Amino acid sequence: MVAKEFISWKSIYETGIQQIDDEHKNLLNILNNLHRCFIQKEGSKVGIEIFKNLIEYTKTHFFHEEEIMRKAKYPKYDEHKNEHRILTRQVVDFFGIFEKQQDLMTANMLEFLKDWLQYHIKIKDIEFSVWKNDNEKKA
Ligand SMILES: [Fe+2]
Repeated sequence: MVAKEFISWKSIYETGIQQIDDEHKNLLNILNNLHRCFIQKEGSKVGIEIFKNLIEYTKTHFFHEEEIMRKAKYPKYDEHKNEHRILTRQVVDFFGIFEKQQDLMTANMLEFLKDWLQYHIKIKDIEFSVWKNDNEKKA
C-alpha cells in the first residue's frame, strides 16, 4: 500500500509563477520527508539532515520569492517578508529543540509547519500572484 502523503500538492497552490511553484513543490517534498522520518522512526541522524535541509531550502526559497516581489514592486512586500522571517525563526527554533532532544520532534511541530505552509501559499503567495498578474495587465 502506498502511504498517503502528509502534504500533497494541490492545484489551488498554483501561483502560475513557475519558479515559485517549483520551489513550493520541493518544500512540500522536504516536509514529507521529515514526516516520513518521524513516522517510520528513521533515527535522529536522518532527522537532523532533513531538518537542516528544510531550513536551508526555506531560506533560499523565501529569498527568491522576495526577490521576485521586490522586482515587481509589490506593495505588501514588507508584510510578506515579515511572515517569512517569523516562519524561518519558528523552524530554526523547532530544530534547536529537536537537536537537543530528538524525541521532541512532535506531530504538533509537523502539523504546525503543514498548516503554515498551506495557509501561506494558498492565501499570501496567491495574493501576490493575483496582484502581479493584474499589475502586468495594467502596464
Ligand atoms: Fe511567501
